[in-house]
Amino acid sequence: MSQPTIESILQEDRLFPPSSEFSSQAHIKSLDEYKKLSEAAQADPEGFWSKLAETELHWFEKWDQVLDWSNPPFAKWFVNGKINLSYNCIDRHLETRSDKPAIIWEGEPGDARIITYKQLHTEVCKFANVLKSQGVKTGDRVGIYMPMIPEAAIAMLACARIGAAHSVVFGGFSAEALRDRLVDADAKVVVTADGGWRKDKIVPLKPAVDAALDAPNVPVTTVITVKRTAQDITMAEGRDHWWHDLMDAASDDCPAPALDSEQMLFVLYTSGSTGKPKGVVHTTGGYNLYAHMTCKWIFDLKEDDVYWCGADIGWITGHTYVVYGALSNGATTVMYEGAPRPSNPGAFWDVIEKYKVTIFYTAPTAIRAFIKMGDEHPNARDLSSLRMLGTVGEPINPEAWMWYHKVIGKEKCPIVDTWWQTETGGVMITPLPGATPTKPGSATLPFPGIQADIVDLEGNSVGPNDGGFLAVRHPWPGMMRTVYNNPERFRKTYWEHIPPKDGKYIYFAGDGARRDADGYFWVMGRVDDVINTAGHRLGTMEIESALVSHPAVAEAAVVGKPDDLKGEEVVAFITLEGDQAQDDALIKELKAHVVSEIGAIARPGEIRFADALPKTRSGKIMRRLLRSLAAGQEIAGDTSTLEDRSVLEKLRGEGS
Ligand code: WTA
Repeated sequence: MSQPTIESILQEDRLFPPSSEFSSQAHIKSLDEYKKLSEAAQADPEGFWSKLAETELHWFEKWDQVLDWSNPPFAKWFVNGKINLSYNCIDRHLETRSDKPAIIWEGEPGDARIITYKQLHTEVCKFANVLKSQGVKTGDRVGIYMPMIPEAAIAMLACARIGAAHSVVFGGFSAEALRDRLVDADAKVVVTADGGWRKDKIVPLKPAVDAALDAPNVPVTTVITVKRTAQDITMAEGRDHWWHDLMDAASDDCPAPALDSEQMLFVLYTSGSTGKPKGVVHTTGGYNLYAHMTCKWIFDLKEDDVYWCGADIGWITGHTYVVYGALSNGATTVMYEGAPRPSNPGAFWDVIEKYKVTIFYTAPTAIRAFIKMGDEHPNARDLSSLRMLGTVGEPINPEAWMWYHKVIGKEKCPIVDTWWQTETGGVMITPLPGATPTKPGSATLPFPGIQADIVDLEGNSVGPNDGGFLAVRHPWPGMMRTVYNNPERFRKTYWEHIPPKDGKYIYFAGDGARRDADGYFWVMGRVDDVINTAGHRLGTMEIESALVSHPAVAEAAVVGKPDDLKGEEVVAFITLEGDQAQDDALIKELKAHVVSEIGAIARPGEIRFADALPKTRSGKIMRRLLRSLAAGQEIAGDTSTLEDRSVLEKLRGEGS
């Protein structure tokens, strides 16, 4: 991998300081206060985190060491501390918040439920007992393949309660993708629903589980199904149970055990540039602290807030900011089943108006979809309850930022553009809403305690405005601990890309970025072969493998092409076996094939046939050239390593 060739052409010097009204009531009230916190954390990271761990969380037993970094890159935080995340998210709030809504849920068809902390406690205790009755023990893995319904959060919290690691698989993934993840995580139990609502249709989930389990190597012995959409499904005797039957029979008495701080909390699969998806492992104590502090300071959470993070629980944002960070703070968290959709263009604004949402956090791709559907929809609703906004998932175009600021925030809500990753557990680079003046398109400054930097491949900091690699120089509590069952991959992917010097390890994030003269970070995008489409990370390798598994396809190369709505769209270049007809029917079939292998999120927007793919002499596909072709740009840069230049000429002819 070379230095990122992406050059930032963005010229953005608008500056939006928080209003004094917002700052005066905020947890962190000024840039000065932020700087003091950051300097203290830089001088003594362990002191900084341990003080917060002591004051903000409940521990059954205190740790003997804050950070064990004696075997880098494998970190341990709060060593020998005893904690329970479900206790911190529920039990400790019962004394003062038992009747406060913990979860406000709205289904896509308009059905709704409000679950108080007391009710959440009962449901989570019961489901923890259900899991135990199905033989689940501390250390086991449980698959969760569910729509956005409260039972998804209840299942996650029940796993956390008994120290079983959950592995949530996004409900939009296909049976094949689900199977791979269940096998890799060696899950015994899967929790699912008959179906979920998405864009006015029922997404059948249980049938996908049945298909995923229909292979000899799948370790799952028990499936627990929530009745949500009530279509006909089949139940396998002995293996399948209804959620409501098991819950009816379960006791609600399940005291939270004291678990080790490093007890595995969850595995969440994410795409890498090569090979199969990686099972990112997070553990209990450090993750709890990091989710808690970032949620509290970045969203300025207060007792009366109605906080809505619009992410699906299948992604890390749903884990950290729909469920754990919000509940650990005793907040009211909104869960919404629906996606932005033209058939109901006011749906999101209705939810804000109905529940008087005060904090709204979503992705740039959703914002662009809202812009397209028209200002009249938000303008027709009362959005005056909103006091701050956030975005996550990809760089936000300044114009989308300005729309969010004006049309949704009415020019009074601070916007936090939060940069982070599945691997980082929580937000790493972000404004603090009462402290940081924002610039549209910049994630601004590192969270206190995060030693973020922009470096070259030797690990040297680059100068102001120079492009480089986003990196982190010191461990933080929310960091991933390993790749499930593959510690070598963890070491290589994240910690040896920049070779450690004098025993100092640097975390390599895989994003290109620059820092301006004010120290603000501008993230430019991935430097590896990962496509970010509609805020979802997809490895080119996974989509290529799916295409090549079709009998007509000889070879496939997949690249991202800039797209107004999704950020990037998947474009596939294909060579065919024998003399297949290169026609529309085959294109349709190949797109459907990718959907069934991976899921609709990976469906190529465009498929182009080629006689051959451009390769280097060592046989590596030159995706850089294909990216330019897909975007309709001139091929710039070096093509001297190309093995056969005529391939390029032909492709160029086709593309124009
Ligand atoms: C990208 C999502 C620019 C980035 C939480 C990162 C962003 C990848 C931002 C992680 C942002 C996320 N600005 N780019 N505010 N937030 N990204 O693991 O490329 O699904 O590496 O985590 O999304 O995606 P993931």
